[in-house]
Amino acid sequence: MELFDVYPLYDITPVSAKGLILTDDQGVEYLDLYGGHAVISIGHGHPHYVSRIKEQLDRIAFYSNAVQNPLQQQLMEKLGYLSGCDEYRLFLCNSGAEANENALKLASFHTGRSRVIAFHNSFHGRTSAAVATTDNPGINAPINRQQQVTFLPFEDATALEAEMAKGDVCAVILEAIQGVGGLDEPSTAFYREISRLCREHDVVLIADEVQSGFGRSGKFFAFQHHGIEPDIISMAKGMGNGFPVGGILIHPKFKASHGLLGTTFGGNHLACAATLAVLEVLEKEQLMKNAEELGSYFAACAARIPEVKRVKGRGLMLGLEFGFEVASLRKRLITKQHIFTGSAKDKSVLRILPALNVSKDHLDQFFNALKRELA
Ligand SMILES: Cc1ncc(COP(=O)(O)O)c(C=O)c1O
Repeated sequence: MELFDVYPLYDITPVSAKGLILTDDQGVEYLDLYGGHAVISIGHGHPHYVSRIKEQLDRIAFYSNAVQNPLQQQLMEKLGYLSGCDEYRLFLCNSGAEANENALKLASFHTGRSRVIAFHNSFHGRTSAAVATTDNPGINAPINRQQQVTFLPFEDATALEAEMAKGDVCAVILEAIQGVGGLDEPSTAFYREISRLCREHDVVLIADEVQSGFGRSGKFFAFQHHGIEPDIISMAKGMGNGFPVGGILIHPKFKASHGLLGTTFGGNHLACAATLAVLEVLEKEQLMKNAEELGSYFAACAARIPEVKRVKGRGLMLGLEFGFEVASLRKRLITKQHIFTGSAKDKSVLRILPALNVSKDHLDQFFNALKRELA
């Protein structure tokens, strides 16, 4: 058998990982400033994370959502407290796409409508409705194109209002900070206008926090920088620090009924233990504060590099915009400097998404390597 060849792979085989360091099968160490697409939030192999999962494994790893699972209760309490969203309801699933799929489905159930408004350059996942709201025709199969989605630019409130006035829109979905697209985000004024229009037209506002959530932006959720209150918040990536977990937070105005949503694996015991460990470390080690401080440190270091046109993003969800395409630079950073960074749909942006306990030393190491490669 062979793998279905859909991923372009670097010729690197990590065999162990600790904190921000990956070690490959040749003993070469790599600084991980990408966290496997923004997934590693508290660092590889964090001792608390490892022991909590191991302990859970010794008790019970899995049972489906047919029995009581007190870990879900513990998770809700901690998540509600740390995020400040304690009045929301929680539905647990397994990935970012699944979170958005359920968010969009719920919006459609709730309003009885089916058209969705998404934004240019968006990425919301690869499943049915989630991929249809992703601004990339190349990954939308004919079956996905049956969904009704309208893509709009940021900042065009007139177009947004005109679409909503047609009366068939169930949801507006947006990434609080765009990830794959290249770290763009709307202004606070536009966020507030989206929120106001959604209320006026009874349209569900979905904040996709799959990448920006769980402290990465310096606040628990990135929409919290703008003082809005979405109806549904989708989460995944950093939530499990590598354990596949996703979820949506749902405003209490949505009515639950048995069977409305469901999943076999979502909210299982191991997934809850992983997420609880992440939340406990976020709180104990004050990682949101670190994300905010180290994000500012990163921006100050980047300002001293003339080739950097702009620093994009917030906290530790960052992009460096250059005046050239960064593919070759990124490759050299990996192969010669042994530093993992990320690419974006905007080919001039290098993405930096380290674990939230990254240190100044790690960032200094990166900037020294960057200078060597730019020289
Ligand atoms: C903002 C955003 N939403 C959704 C997804 C999809 O998540 P997953 O790959 O876990 O399905 C991603 C993945 O990159 C993402 O960045």
